[in-house]
Amino acid sequence: MELIEISHPLKDHYLSILRNKDTDFDTFRISASKLSYLLAVEATKHLSLKNIEIQTPLVTTSAYEVENNSVAISVLRAGLGLVDGVKDLIPNVSFGYIGVQRNEETAEPENYYEKLPELNDKNVFILEPMLATGGSLSFAIETVKKYNPKNIHALTVIAAPEGIELIKEKHPDITLITASIDEKLNENWYIVPGLGDMGDRLFGTT
Ligand code: URA
Repeated sequence: MELIEISHPLKDHYLSILRNKDTDFDTFRISASKLSYLLAVEATKHLSLKNIEIQTPLVTTSAYEVENNSVAISVLRAGLGLVDGVKDLIPNVSFGYIGVQRNEETAEPENYYEKLPELNDKNVFILEPMLATGGSLSFAIETVKKYNPKNIHALTVIAAPEGIELIKEKHPDITLITASIDEKLNENWYIVPGLGDMGDRLFGTT
């Protein structure tokens, strides 16, 4: 598995706003959105280009166009907070949604919602901001792999070492991009230092 921790002063600025417990909902949402552009730029470095010819005001010249073969998948609900960067930067990206929950009896992850566009031979970007145990991201990756994508990039805001280890072991063929590798999980499976519950902080629930 390729692991990329992005390094950028704007990342440090917006991540600090997200971590601060006194940040209000509006500022939290806006900062998550801004961070999503930095994650999207890093995650799209491999996209393939088509050669095209265009007219400038002066001459005909060769130019480029990114191929229309990308899909972003939000893992509900916190993944919705990272939609802006991929939506605004990747030309004609399609969107899918996966809702993952733990089965009360088996404790295994299962999906309660799945709506996916065509994934065969696509660049797939999975949006899962908090990589804690890695259970739901691993489940989302397994779901996506059934449809034979070209490649998979997972975009996370914060990744715990425990989650990184699980993804490395189960999905060595993906690329994981994160704004921060944090210290650990606490006894309630929250990432430390972390930012609390991403879904609650994005949507104003407690
Ligand atoms: N999900 C969150 O939103 N926060 C954590 O710290 C762990 C999982």
